[in-house]
Amino acid sequence: MTENLDTNKKSNQSENKKFFTTITYGCQMNENDSERLSGQLKSIGYEYSDKLDEADIILINTCCVRESAEKKIYGKIGELKRLKSVNPNLIIGITGCMAQKDRDELFKKAPHIDLVMGTHNVHTLVDHIKEIEESKGKVLAVWDQAERLAPNVPTVRKGQISAWVPIMYGCNNFCTYCIVPYVRGRERSRPIKDIVEEINQLGEEGFKEITLLGQNVNSYGKDSEEGDFADLLKAVDSVNNIERIRYMTSHPRDMNEKVINTIRNSKNICEQFHLPIQSGSNTILSRMNRGYTTEYYLDLVQKIRSLMPEASITTDIIVGFPGETEELFEETLAFIKKVKYDAAYTFLYSQRSGTPAATMEEQIPLAVKKARLQKLMEAQNEISLHLNKQLEHRIVEVLVEGVSKSDDNKLMGRTRTNKIVIWEKVGIEKIGQLVQVEIKTAQTWVLKGSLV
Ligand code: 5AD
Ligand code: SF4
Repeated sequence: MTENLDTNKKSNQSENKKFFTTITYGCQMNENDSERLSGQLKSIGYEYSDKLDEADIILINTCCVRESAEKKIYGKIGELKRLKSVNPNLIIGITGCMAQKDRDELFKKAPHIDLVMGTHNVHTLVDHIKEIEESKGKVLAVWDQAERLAPNVPTVRKGQISAWVPIMYGCNNFCTYCIVPYVRGRERSRPIKDIVEEINQLGEEGFKEITLLGQNVNSYGKDSEEGDFADLLKAVDSVNNIERIRYMTSHPRDMNEKVINTIRNSKNICEQFHLPIQSGSNTILSRMNRGYTTEYYLDLVQKIRSLMPEASITTDIIVGFPGETEELFEETLAFIKKVKYDAAYTFLYSQRSGTPAATMEEQIPLAVKKARLQKLMEAQNEISLHLNKQLEHRIVEVLVEGVSKSDDNKLMGRTRTNKIVIWEKVGIEKIGQLVQVEIKTAQTWVLKGSLV
């Protein structure tokens, strides 16, 4: 069952109505989990509201990948105390990665919380809400391990054009900086049949773009007899009505020629490669336990570009990993200049307790990390701008997403390569459709054009 959130927002006309709100931090997997949490609450009579002070249930779906996210979330949890004192019947639930990690600690830190529910328990929400409604007590629902695959639950989608579809859960990689394998468990792939069925349904409901989700989509199927990621891509390429298929996130070690060729020969799979390099230094890559070298990675980039010269390549980079000297950081700078990424998401290394890197020697001072981040962003912005400029005066295919969030007078959409395009508000009736846009001015993060 999928329904649209926006069409279900109603004002509080009746005293009998019960409302819920979800606040989501972190990655797309969390966004999709929130949609499944919303679906379950809807199935027991709650309606979505974006007004915190009219909600009967507030769920905060959390992320713990970096300390900065955790701090922000604790701040938000603190803010909710006021609402609880006004309405003692309000149910406040903390779900997701931080709940999985901190468990009952959360009750100690914030006694106004009613529910702490881990990542493996997303499908059990209804039982816990009923338990709290009946007993007014607190519930801790954090399983150490996931069932192989959790049962399907109703989903309330946030958008009407693009939808997320999880293809696997968990991660087996244990990169030494990363908390994800500890809070999301081992890799579990969904059957191809279930994934295709879900996408078929989305196509029938009018969705145009699908993003396949997993922490490491390239290892899809390794835990089952399902076939591999390329087989899955082939199976989802021809679903009716779906115009574009994306996926995230890839691990460069597991990206291979079979996948690249499948994408090239496909109709709908977008020529967009997000390949997190994390560092341009082989010394750091080895300490990160990434399982590839910069030489191997460059070879991959070359294969992609020789088969699909128009493809975009983006990445994630962490600066200030323990032991990163100025010279090793310079290797990362040189590396991004060699690859010429369309865009890079850059992060300050954050010590996550329980991960091997947290106790490594030679932790880098914050000021040094910040200076490196700045340098890296400046270098990348220059590259992004240079690549985007090459699109000026060209006509690109854009899927119209809606009115631009930063300017009411503009429409926005994305190219197949996932670049944001905005243009004067002409063609509002084309939301959800593919249009041709001529690019007039290219900037670092956005292309400005006009409808052809
Ligand atoms: N510190 C900083 N960045 C991190 N990431 C994962 N763990 C950490 C950490 N401890 C980044 C990686 C990953 C992205 C989603 O978050 O670059 O690709
Ligand atoms: Fe974390 Fe590495 Fe798994 Fe990505 S592949 S989720 S960075 S452990």
